[in-house]
Amino acid sequence: MKSYDIALIPADGIGPDVVDAAWAVLSKVAAQSGFGLSGTTFPWSCTYYKETGQMMPGDGIETLRSFDAILLGSVGWPAEVPDSVSLHGLLLTIRKAFDQYANMRSHRLLPGVNGPLKATDFDLLCIRENTEGEYSGAGGRVHQGTPSEVVVETSIFTRRGVERILRHGFEQARQRSGRLASVTKSNAQRHSMVFWDEVTRELAAEYSDVEVTSYHVDALAARLIMAPESLDVIVASNLFGDILTDMGAAIQGGLGFAASANINPDRSVPSMFEPVHGSAPDIAHLGIANPIATIWSGAMMLEHLGERPAAGRVMNAIAAATGKGIGATPGKDKTSAITAAVLEALD
Ligand code: IPM
Ligand code: MN
Repeated sequence: MKSYDIALIPADGIGPDVVDAAWAVLSKVAAQSGFGLSGTTFPWSCTYYKETGQMMPGDGIETLRSFDAILLGSVGWPAEVPDSVSLHGLLLTIRKAFDQYANMRSHRLLPGVNGPLKATDFDLLCIRENTEGEYSGAGGRVHQGTPSEVVVETSIFTRRGVERILRHGFEQARQRSGRLASVTKSNAQRHSMVFWDEVTRELAAEYSDVEVTSYHVDALAARLIMAPESLDVIVASNLFGDILTDMGAAIQGGLGFAASANINPDRSVPSMFEPVHGSAPDIAHLGIANPIATIWSGAMMLEHLGERPAAGRVMNAIAAATGKGIGATPGKDKTSAITAAVLEALD
């Protein structure tokens, strides 16, 4: 029997609740589908940081390397550990160490979910560059705290980085509607973004079956609200993709539904699956976190592992639950009730 080793990192806040929920669903669908799923839980989190001074042990990355995939809850407990420490010490370290350069996020309305828009028939796949660009971390501060303070934060775009994320966008577009939106701000940022547009055009010649349109990010943001159904696959830099996917989450009814996959398409290292939402300290331990974003991320994990029918079953079960109104309205149902409804729909 085929079997997969999954590293579970529930981490902080609502993370443990939503990972437990997703793991129950994934375990059930694995048993039904005839493959094995074995989970190893790591306690790496802000609590772990307070005990050890590190978000994960020094050999954490080496430990994760042998797993087939990672399922992560949410990282951050800002009352006790600054976000800049916790995120760089765990989530961002893993994304970088395994070169998970394609951050894929799906935005569409599940049955029964009321989005804020008139449009209801959109189905978007946002692909965000996940390793460089505006979040490269290159920069510094001099004369800190004085009137002559100078702060520099430099975006770094490499040909390798831009080409591979655009290529991934073209490949995904080819498998879907054949339409790709490439996002820049090349009317204002005349180096990096003009370069991105150039590479887009170079690749367009190779993917003549894909219809690619370049948009400025401000115009695309407006289009996401006014005419999301006119878009399909969207590819964007790290910062632009970060912002656009929170908009994507909003138009699909909220962060409780937004799933995400950090993929290294070369498959030599584990990819990581996580909800877009954070640790939500305000509702932690209340048992009311919506687990759907994490369950959906688990479905993306199964798909990545090659278990496509099982992934489809999970998505159908989520849709059956929300279709009955369970988990469809933010804050209405308990985590346990939503999980039970999805589990039941798997039968
Ligand atoms: C996300 C988050 C993270 C990011 C933060 C928490 C560093 O906003 O996954 O979108 O920007 O990548
Ligand atoms: Mn974000």
